[in-house]
Amino acid sequence: MSRRVAVGVLASGRGTNLQTLINACAAPDYPAKIAIVLSNKEDAPALERARQAHIPAELIDERIFAARQSLEEALLAAIREHGVELLCLAGFMRLLSPAFLTTFGRPVLNIHPALLPSFPGLHAVRQALEHGVKISGCTVHLVDAGTDSGPIIVQAAVPVLPGDDEAALSARILREEHRIFPLALRWVAQQAIRVHGRVVELQGAPELSDGALRNPGKPLP
Ligand code: GRF
Repeated sequence: MSRRVAVGVLASGRGTNLQTLINACAAPDYPAKIAIVLSNKEDAPALERARQAHIPAELIDERIFAARQSLEEALLAAIREHGVELLCLAGFMRLLSPAFLTTFGRPVLNIHPALLPSFPGLHAVRQALEHGVKISGCTVHLVDAGTDSGPIIVQAAVPVLPGDDEAALSARILREEHRIFPLALRWVAQQAIRVHGRVVELQGAPELSDGALRNPGKPLP
């Protein structure tokens, strides 16, 4: 197969989305490979998942790199060292500065557990429940200088069911995250997307978009 795009993954926590990217990259025809996993948290299980998969994993300890600028310089150094061409934020609980994004200069993808532009920022699932929405979901978007505000690549919806608490709804959304994040990464790695202002258009692979946008789960009640 043709050359695989070198991806860096930034993760702060348990790393289930990282795991789905690792699993996707194991397929021989997947157009990306994970070159490095970086975490700001020493105890992030994501680091262990990377090591288990024999992927370089580095802690950029936020206790040592306390200032945002120095943390981001350390991230950029590791990213450069590993030839990263594209970044995925997989539960990375820090905002990247405009200076970081400009210096990196390549696509950065983020996964968010809500149907953006609703409920950006922290505790998105709790925000959605407290608002009383009947449908929620998840979004993979390109990162820009705002908070969860960049152009949307793909979304998936799930119902909010009577009696849902944060854990139940989060789990339902997470299943969809695991489906759409590898898909979005595939499209970006294949250069199958074009961005027109806020609108991301999928090019040359319409069969992919059909599969992505149709929820294969149960119909909404
Ligand atoms: C996910 O819900 C993701 O949408 C959000 O942080 C969570 C990370 O989960 N940005 P995991 O670490 O991938 O399991």
